[in-house]
Amino acid sequence: RAFQIAIDGVASTGKSQTARLLVQRLDGFAHIDSGAMYRAITLKTFPLKPAVSSTAWAEQVAAIAENTQFHFAGSRLFMDGEDVSTDIRSLEVTRAVSAVAAVPAVRSALVRMQRDFASAPGRGSRGVVMEGRDIGSTVLPDAQLKIYLDGQVLVRAERRFAEMHAAAKKAGLPLNVTLEEIMADVQRRDTADFERKTSPLKKADRAVVIDTSFLSLAEQVGMLEVLARE
Ligand code: C5P
Repeated sequence: RAFQIAIDGVASTGKSQTARLLVQRLDGFAHIDSGAMYRAITLKTFPLKPAVSSTAWAEQVAAIAENTQFHFAGSRLFMDGEDVSTDIRSLEVTRAVSAVAAVPAVRSALVRMQRDFASAPGRGSRGVVMEGRDIGSTVLPDAQLKIYLDGQVLVRAERRFAEMHAAAKKAGLPLNVTLEEIMADVQRRDTADFERKTSPLKKADRAVVIDTSFLSLAEQVGMLEVLARE
């Protein structure tokens, strides 16, 4: 069967970048960013009229999730044939995604698709690196390698802030957000992830816990590469 590597952990520990670099080092692995799928569904909910978290809203969001096609090309995500990789990283999406990810029917639809990706990772691939919050615990409980990335809130917020600062500078735009606001966002997302009723974030059985607070991205990827080759 396909070799499955599950990477879970709190927000802003570099899961996506780590997974992307890890698949570059390992031969024949596909990268599946499950958070990107929740973000993409969130983008698709923006035109909805009912109040967020109302029953009518949850039903419409679930219908959207059940009628969406995804495919990954490298680390780019296509939703219904359109590349949404950039749009899903906006602050608006980041702030709205926890409510969407809390809808049980959204989770069951996406989990089904994630399992399909993992069992048929595509031509020439011998496995997947899938990252998210519930991969080792729920989506792929039999994964051969499970990683849990942790990190201090302030360090994670500083990294996100630096990234946003660099992106704003590159685009020649002012950055209308403070470090305190980013830290509050990170904390709010952690709470939502830990307290979600369906598949909350937790360390899966057999998961190797890595605290990323004092690791560089290169060190982090190096550690995972060693574990994957064992
Ligand atoms: O990893 P990323 O921050 O891009 O994920 C976006 C959001 O999607 C998270 O805040 C989390 O609430 C949700 N998520 C989830 N289950 C996953 C992956 C992400 O609920 N497996």
